[in-house]
Amino acid sequence: MLENAMNTTDKPHSSLRILGFLCNWCSYGGADTAGVCRFRQPPLLRIIRIPCTGRMDPLFVIKALVQGADGVLVSGCHPKDCHYAVGNFYARRRLELVRRFLPFIGIDPRRFRYTWVSASEGQRWQQVVTEFSAIIEELGPNPGFGSLTHQGRDIMTAAGCNFDNAGMYQLGVLLNSTSQR
Ligand code: FES
Repeated sequence: MLENAMNTTDKPHSSLRILGFLCNWCSYGGADTAGVCRFRQPPLLRIIRIPCTGRMDPLFVIKALVQGADGVLVSGCHPKDCHYAVGNFYARRRLELVRRFLPFIGIDPRRFRYTWVSASEGQRWQQVVTEFSAIIEELGPNPGFGSLTHQGRDIMTAAGCNFDNAGMYQLGVLLNSTSQR
């Protein structure tokens, strides 16, 4: 899924890629609203639709950035508007931890953003995408694995940068364990 989203061949005028994980009920609708209203947006974003931000495993973000995505954007329903009641509260804790964890492994935290956009907020969606794209344009291509610190390389090498082995599993347990309310 991540690989497909990052390897699309159409490159409008930039090879930079932002992966967007959008909750089906709010932010995906917001992006749709922006499209229907023909609000102009930078073309860097590749969208992956998820049922709720509560479904976001922090490892999706880390794996995408280590594998070279230039930016990762997660967007869901506003707090208290989650269609599964508390999914975005769990997500907020996990994603904030990811944001703070990224510098530790050598990834610029400005490459990651999470936010909330409702289905009616097409204009806000346009603003979020435009602002984040500008930051990614300024940062330029993400060296991915090449930018990792020694600690980050040790962690990622031990983990093999995939979800199947024990190292990545343990990292996932660590990051997810803080999401308990
Ligand atoms: Fe949108 Fe939970 S359904 S964040």
